[in-house]
Amino acid sequence: MKVAVDGAKCTGHARCQATAPEVFALDELGYAVPGEREIAAGAEAEARRGASACPERAITVWGD
Ligand code: F3S
Repeated sequence: MKVAVDGAKCTGHARCQATAPEVFALDELGYAVPGEREIAAGAEAEARRGASACPERAITVWGD
């Protein structure tokens, strides 16, 4: 499973990191670190919750 954070959509709500701290990190300005990466085994549900928590829909989760 993979996750991607669209840096153009992120406005720094930080709900992703609060909901899924093992998956999402914030940069020094409080924005989610952008880009695509693989999700560690066992963290899939957390990743989905974090993505759902983003009011800007800046996060995409896909694959298995
Ligand atoms: Fe950004 Fe959404 Fe997280 S706006 S900091 S990706 S909750």
